[in-house]
Amino acid sequence: MCNALETPSLFQAFEPYFRIGAAVSSRLTADPEMAQLICRHFNSITAENQMKPYSVLDPEGTLEKGDPCRAAVDFTRVDELLSFARDNGIAVRYHTLAWHNQTPVWFFKEHWENDWNAPSAPKDIMLARLDNYIRDVMEHVNTCFPGVVYTWDVVNEAIEPEQGGPGLFRTKSPWFALTGQDFLPAAFRAARRGAAPGQTLCYNDYNAFDPVKRDAIIGLLKTLQAENLVDTMGMQGHYVLDHLNVGACETAARAYAALGLKLQVTELDIHCSSDDEAHRQALTDAYRGWFAMMKKLSRDGIGIEAVTFWGVTDADSWLPGFRREPSYPLLFTADRKAKPAFGAVLKVAAEN
Ligand code: GLA
Repeated sequence: MCNALETPSLFQAFEPYFRIGAAVSSRLTADPEMAQLICRHFNSITAENQMKPYSVLDPEGTLEKGDPCRAAVDFTRVDELLSFARDNGIAVRYHTLAWHNQTPVWFFKEHWENDWNAPSAPKDIMLARLDNYIRDVMEHVNTCFPGVVYTWDVVNEAIEPEQGGPGLFRTKSPWFALTGQDFLPAAFRAARRGAAPGQTLCYNDYNAFDPVKRDAIIGLLKTLQAENLVDTMGMQGHYVLDHLNVGACETAARAYAALGLKLQVTELDIHCSSDDEAHRQALTDAYRGWFAMMKKLSRDGIGIEAVTFWGVTDADSWLPGFRREPSYPLLFTADRKAKPAFGAVLKVAAEN
């Protein structure tokens, strides 16, 4: 296997089709060799965590400010990655503005208490907080880093079939519990107002290939489209090797595109529990088949903005922690070598 710094560039190979991205952190970009690897292979980055609400919302500042409708924000961690991207000419997908997860509990509480048992803020206040938060983030990013962000994950993971109910919304989300469905158009309206020309607004979710979830997502997208609030469907793309169904991914991608939306695959990885010869081969075949499908979609005229891997090498994947077993899900090994899967993906790009 070849050192990842000596192989051809992945993003250059896919330039005719879509951007190639990776989720990164300041820990990775501070490592000079890793920074080089990122710049060589990716022309889009996502912050793995640094742009999520819990990295941006400032608890002490919020209490000091004393405004019930507006939290204080601290952009230190956001700016680290935006500076890296700007200085290296890499585009950024901002992940994420409204999410039930990795948003501090105090953001949902009437007097900003950091306590699950404290009374929740009423609906009108929550919607005002959401509106102000989105405005503050977008204004900062677009003023201080013009042209760096090309797409915004406005809402992440609002549909959850297991929680039932009409529309299959994630009813256990504090956003849903406090505002019903209203936070969805409210978030997208605020984002539309704050977006710079050319920036796309994205709805992002996992298992977006699953037919039941897909149809519920399509229902939501149509209501957003009625107000011209959404531009892009983000299919996360956390797959499991033995269950990857490329046909279902293709069917879902075509169904979203048929709404007139652009597509992104925002969090690609394929959980693979061993790195032995047989698994490596299976991973290679899975990536080959999946990328061939994506290239075909692009050639069929479907607008794919980017395919983003969730991590750079196996060493920084979230999967071993999440699955509580080893995982080798990405194209680069922990010691920064290009796997056979990398070669297969490059070949897909080059084939006629
Ligand atoms: C979801 C989120 C990501 C990340 C992954 C797990 O997919 O959208 O931000 O937290 O889970 O790492």
